[in-house]
Amino acid sequence: MDYTLLHTLVWLLPAVAFTTQELVRLSVSPGIVAECGKPVTLNCDASSPGEELSIKHMEWLQNGKSVCSMDTAIPNHTHSPSDFYCEYKQGQLSLILKRVKPQEKGNYTCKLHSNQGALSKKTTVELQECCGIAEGVRTTDRLTCTFKHVYPDGDVHWFHGSHNLSDGSVEQHTSKQVEEGGWLTIRSDLERKSSHGPYNCSLMSTTSGRHIASTLVPNPKSPGRVRSQQPSHKARNGVGSLGPIWTLLCFSVLLVATLN
Ligand SMILES: *[C@@H]1O[C@H](CO)[C@@H](O)[C@H](O)[C@H]1NC(C)=O
Ligand SMILES: *[C@@H]1O[C@H](CO)[C@@H](O)[C@H](O)[C@H]1NC(C)=O
Ligand SMILES: *[C@@H]1O[C@H](CO)[C@@H](O)[C@H](O)[C@H]1NC(C)=O
Ligand SMILES: *[C@@H]1O[C@H](CO)[C@@H](O)[C@H](O)[C@H]1NC(C)=O
Repeated sequence: MDYTLLHTLVWLLPAVAFTTQELVRLSVSPGIVAECGKPVTLNCDASSPGEELSIKHMEWLQNGKSVCSMDTAIPNHTHSPSDFYCEYKQGQLSLILKRVKPQEKGNYTCKLHSNQGALSKKTTVELQECCGIAEGVRTTDRLTCTFKHVYPDGDVHWFHGSHNLSDGSVEQHTSKQVEEGGWLTIRSDLERKSSHGPYNCSLMSTTSGRHIASTLVPNPKSPGRVRSQQPSHKARNGVGSLGPIWTLLCFSVLLVATLN
């Protein structure tokens, strides 16, 4: 190849790329680290500063697989039974993930075909670390902690009071299960040695090493009578729910008032 031809090509190529970019623009929502179970909206906007833009096709793909397109977009999401839906209006295709789950994380690409050329843009969805439910149960021969709706993977550490039992002195067995949506259920059993004092288990993320959740395994009410297989301590996101107690209290007050 002679020098002038190469020289011309070097100058011509970026110019061609530049002109197509000038004609039609595509912008997508920035990458997001979403809270587990919360809705996520990914927008894709096509626009053209110059001539009339005629959109032939717009589509969202997750990790290379088609999720939805402007043809499958629905006007009223309230009727959609699935976990996501798409809306399309005037050059904007929005993908709405109703309750974001581990399976939905990854790379999302928006593709456009128009009278002014084809384009695609990428964005990402990541999930924050989370645990939906943590509960501790005490039975006659063992203590069990169960963490449900967990993301990502985690390790369970047991404590007796403030003493860390994860040094191998007490036998513990941990099992993990992948549930629908990519959530993990992590269960850990501890052989019971001493019957007294509060036991505690803590879930640490294997990726960040951060503490995701913890739960106290309650003491039995009287030492002689241990109720088995009865979840007696529950926590959601580490915060106890007072809702049902208040409802019960209000109901009782109402009942007493009515009876009087
Ligand atoms: C869509 O839902 C809105 C309320 O959110 C309602 O006003 C509208 O009539 C609905 N449209 C259709 C086509 O069902
Ligand atoms: C997303 O893209 C990045 C970089 O292109 C790649 O490293 C990663 O594996 C992709 N993730 C998925 C879930 O495909
Ligand atoms: C629970 O575990 C934490 C460590 O994660 C520890 O610092 C704390 O003392 C424990 N609490 C009780 C009541 O055992
Ligand atoms: C408990 O011990 C384990 C294993 O030695 C360690 O990885 C973990 O960080 C300890 N946890 C705390 C809160 O000290």
